Amino acid sequence: MAADETAIVRSELRWSWVVFVTIGVMFAAILFATLAMHDTPPGHNETVDPVTIHVIGEFVEPNLGTTVDAQGGVTTRIVAAQFAFVPQCVVVPQGKPVTFRLTSPDVIHGILVMGTNVNTMVVPGYVSEVHTVFNETGDLLMPCHEFCGIGHSEMLAHVRVVPQSEFHPNAQGKVSCALR
Ligand code: CUA
Repeated sequence: MAADETAIVRSELRWSWVVFVTIGVMFAAILFATLAMHDTPPGHNETVDPVTIHVIGEFVEPNLGTTVDAQGGVTTRIVAAQFAFVPQCVVVPQGKPVTFRLTSPDVIHGILVMGTNVNTMVVPGYVSEVHTVFNETGDLLMPCHEFCGIGHSEMLAHVRVVPQSEFHPNAQGKVSCALR
């Protein structure tokens, strides 16, 4: 009987090692994704004052839409508000890394770009950041996917993916649907 109990304790200890190692591997994978691959949740704890986004900072209206910086990095900034996106159409290049930065002045919205892996909540007070590469050209729908009020179903934007040969920033580095 005593021998059996020893065997049981040994078995339990073996399984607890399996559990410890499994948790350790998962924890290491999370740390690796966060620190080495910068693969953090879209909110990544970057805050912004939802009351003043339209008058100060990076989300003022002239700064919205797609901008190419001096290093060639492509960033698309969008404000999701009841019940429209500003701007309602953005242009992005095919086959190049694109960073989406979004925020909301009012309630929680959500976006997805149909047929791609772009999908995030947009929470007032926070900047949601998503990195992606669009492999196909085309006009992709970007609906709000979080119920945000009476006009939720009207909340829709377009992401226009164009070949790099047709992606021409103006003197300010801006590329917009209207300018094309
Ligand atoms: Cu915004 Cu639903």
